[in-house]
Amino acid sequence: MTRQDAFPHRDYDLPEGVDRHIEAAPQSAYTDPAVLQAEMRAVFESDWVMVGRAGIIPEPGDYFTCLVGAKPVVVIRQQDGSIAAMGNFCLHRYARLLDGAGTAKRIVCPYHHWTYQMTGELMGVPDRKGFDEDTIKGRRLDPLACEVVLGFIYVSVRHDLPPVADRLKGLAPLIEAFDLGAYEDRVVQHEELWEGNWKLVIENFIESYHTTYTHPRSIGPTNPGHAAEFGPWGDPGFAIHSNSYRDEDIPETCIPALTEDEKRRFYVMSLFPNGLAALDPNFVWWMSLEPLGPGRANARWGLSFAPGRMAQPDADAFVRSICEVIGIATGEDKEMVVRVQDGAAFASTTPGLLHAPLDLNIQEFNAYLAAKIAETPAP
Ligand code: FES
Ligand SMILES: [Fe+2]
Repeated sequence: MTRQDAFPHRDYDLPEGVDRHIEAAPQSAYTDPAVLQAEMRAVFESDWVMVGRAGIIPEPGDYFTCLVGAKPVVVIRQQDGSIAAMGNFCLHRYARLLDGAGTAKRIVCPYHHWTYQMTGELMGVPDRKGFDEDTIKGRRLDPLACEVVLGFIYVSVRHDLPPVADRLKGLAPLIEAFDLGAYEDRVVQHEELWEGNWKLVIENFIESYHTTYTHPRSIGPTNPGHAAEFGPWGDPGFAIHSNSYRDEDIPETCIPALTEDEKRRFYVMSLFPNGLAALDPNFVWWMSLEPLGPGRANARWGLSFAPGRMAQPDADAFVRSICEVIGIATGEDKEMVVRVQDGAAFASTTPGLLHAPLDLNIQEFNAYLAAKIAETPAP
């Protein structure tokens, strides 16, 4: 399949093999602590996890902290330009080392001032004679696997997984003309609390059924459901469709390589397990979800822009205008996520019904989760 013929289904037409009857996950999937525990084990501690964009830490020493499942992690730009991820806890008595995001030359533990290189190597121990030299020599913060693909940073507590590029090998050709890796990361927000299960934030983002009805003040009028385009489905690493612009709202673009079809596309992607991206010819809106409990999640999110668009004289005003629309859309979405979380408290055993195809990406996300949980042995 080439990118030219990858999204042939419009006007609620279904890709071949998709059934019109699709059930939603049961309500307990959003409220039961045991379900979250299973997801933490089978997904967040067993698979790659998307944590952000490489451009949010552009210089050596730039870092941000995050959660990989329950594990505190820090992601740091290294001197050689690579990105490393490591446990954000001290090797003395486990104090959390860094908070939020910033730039540092070295990491100093606030508790007893053990000091680490930005590579994670232990370099300084106060009152060193209190320790056996052989046992502290050569220690370093726990490394995680870390890769950057399409500009997204993925980390994993496991070191034996196939590369991220493998899992996204079906996605990269579909969006190659956009050169997403080169989009400039201009806006990032490390903390955005959602009062809902992490999956609800993802499911809300990846369905174009609600767009018309939930977003009357932002993206609803410009990206109606009937214009959504579907094609590739069933991939184990991602789900995608286009929440396309209606003809009169197709944006101006600075990417000459785009086809006429691609110019009207607003690709919505679920980057399994916890990453999201909505990509058009001028910007990408991305998110990385961190579960904080069955009914709470943190979203790290940002906006990145096509270099051609940022070369224009009104670039700053354009960035501000997109921030404003996304801010309104996020407010509209948050209200609905809380409503679903509240409704799911009923604990009904009758599953909801998903729209085909507008909720189709939710089914693919659920299939990914079910497969991970099935293949991970219970403790
Ligand atoms: S816990 Fe970090 S120096 Fe003691
Ligand atoms: Fe939305």
